[in-house]
Amino acid sequence: MKIINVGNYQELSERAAKIVIETVQNKPNAVLGLATGSTPIGLYNELIDDHAKNGTSYRKICTFNLDEYVGLEGSHPQSYLYFMRQHLFNHIDISSENTFIPNGKAEDMMKECERYEELIKEKGGIDLQILGIGQNGHIGFNEPGTSFSSRTHIIQLTESTRKANSRFFSSMDEVPTHAVTVGIQTIMESRKILLLVSGQAKMEAFKRLLSDEIDESFPASVLKLHNDVTVITDIAFDN
Ligand code: F6R
Repeated sequence: MKIINVGNYQELSERAAKIVIETVQNKPNAVLGLATGSTPIGLYNELIDDHAKNGTSYRKICTFNLDEYVGLEGSHPQSYLYFMRQHLFNHIDISSENTFIPNGKAEDMMKECERYEELIKEKGGIDLQILGIGQNGHIGFNEPGTSFSSRTHIIQLTESTRKANSRFFSSMDEVPTHAVTVGIQTIMESRKILLLVSGQAKMEAFKRLLSDEIDESFPASVLKLHNDVTVITDIAFDN
């Protein structure tokens, strides 16, 4: 893993944007894996600014989001489809036909998972996967204990993750109990991975990531087995 330490969240967002923009410029039909959550919002803002100022085009870019809540319509303000439209897709020249997010309202969720995996393959696989990290080390919604060989699947959210995400809902009861997420194996098949780790709340997770541990009880630890992972962090931490 290549670790890039930056001074603050703005710098983290700019460094991350530089990597995404380079990917898009070098391969105008690249396949990007995208994350939601608070961490990549600054990156998406940078991409929007760059698109407006420098005209970087996403016309041929294809995107796959990591996850979606089960049971929320895409029109629900807390759905990840809504999030992506609001924070990125509506502000760049990407075609909605090229943006993929698991359908949390599919009648047959098992089939939806298979369909999503197939689609990623059909589009040639993920060139650059953007990841955040949960306080418990989850990547996507792959909670501790998820098999490293998992592919797109349905998971039950842990109470800690539901609690962390409840800030976006009006009450804890409204936070969905399940989500659909690409698997750890799916993430590991990405050609390049960019992990963004921001804020003191992620300090413990970051420390564990820097340790020697590679174990399913800490999902992000699998990234140490990938040969092209860049971690950008604004957490100051001496080993
Ligand atoms: C979101 C996702 C999650 C988040 C993680 C961190 O698509 O896959 O793994 O990246 O929960 O969330 P934030 O950035 O809100 O701390």
